Amino acid sequence: MYYNVPVVGKVHWIGVNDRRKRLFENIWPLDRGVSYNSYLIVDDKTALVDTIEDRVAGNYIERIEALLNGRLLDYLIINHMEPDHSGEIKAIVDHFNGVKIVGNAKTFKMVDAYWGIKDNLIQVDDGDALDLGHHKLKFVMAPWVHWPETMMTYDQSEHILFSGDAFGSFGALDGGIFDDEINFDFFEDEMRRYYSNIVGKYSNMVQKAFAKLKGIPVKVVAPTHGPVWRSNPSKVLDLYDRWSRYEAEEGVVIVFASMYGNTEEIADYIGRRIAEQGVKNIRIHDVSRTHISHLINEIWKYRGLVLGSCAYNSEMFPLMEQLTRELTHMGIKNKKLALFGSYSWNGGGVKNLKKFAEDSNLDLIVEPAEIYGKPNEEKLKQFDDLAIKIAQSVK
Ligand code: FEO
Repeated sequence: MYYNVPVVGKVHWIGVNDRRKRLFENIWPLDRGVSYNSYLIVDDKTALVDTIEDRVAGNYIERIEALLNGRLLDYLIINHMEPDHSGEIKAIVDHFNGVKIVGNAKTFKMVDAYWGIKDNLIQVDDGDALDLGHHKLKFVMAPWVHWPETMMTYDQSEHILFSGDAFGSFGALDGGIFDDEINFDFFEDEMRRYYSNIVGKYSNMVQKAFAKLKGIPVKVVAPTHGPVWRSNPSKVLDLYDRWSRYEAEEGVVIVFASMYGNTEEIADYIGRRIAEQGVKNIRIHDVSRTHISHLINEIWKYRGLVLGSCAYNSEMFPLMEQLTRELTHMGIKNKKLALFGSYSWNGGGVKNLKKFAEDSNLDLIVEPAEIYGKPNEEKLKQFDDLAIKIAQSVK
């Protein structure tokens, strides 16, 4: 790929798409691929901002050389060391003689651990600057967005924020690279899924990063994944602000675990009763069928959460247990919660869902309901109150 993608003036996008990787971090499905964005600034001094994953490097070095047009690469700025961005560090250092690596103390510990590189390092801290000529860069430490060493690079001249994983998205860039070249409807779901799966656990750190950026004009948001925002950067900033404050939309996600269809029947009954209350966004998922990545995305999106489990060896169903563990791990909050289930021996599904609820930051708004055996008209009435209350709570 040799086409040039100028971002602003002397800044070029030199990212790649990865449509071959099935699972990001070997967990999260990449049904629509992903991009690894890297940027080259060709100013009086030249600087590369982040690299890409080595597995899809292709002609990455040749593209950089073509843009440098015979000049040296002066700096490699590392905002983030996760291998989807740091994969080409060694190749860059080997190829561009004398390139200086710019990062913070935590970055350099990892650079040594990954690549054994100890020389030509320029250590920066919060607020430090690097003058490239026209472009005057400033470094903003943003720990835990998404690893401990992460930082952002802010171009004070053109107001470009090279934000690392923050403000990124799943989804390959299918021709359109900038926000004004794409239909965002395609990306919104993938962006929230990326946020909730990868960054969501560190939402409080995202808010701290926002606090640091307050008052700084941002004309372009240039993340390491997904679209580059040059026309309407406030859109992506607003979305990330909302998601990291756990703001959600009116709607209810019902996730059920069912071996023989009894708990599923209850889920459908509850869904119908919620719809009768006027809630239009209702999503019912089988925990055995829908990947946890999509479940987390939907749960992040909507205000109401209803979890239902059959009993399984006197516990909750294993895949439901996995989901609740992941929700705990992510510190999910600001949800209205209801629980239900069924059993055939001595229970265990709802009992353990209650334990999850007690240990969580979620608002259990109604007493859990559970039936013995197969549902019938009479037994299902037990779930009317739960459905009405959850519907009222999300409006
Ligand atoms: Fe895209 Fe945390 O790496």
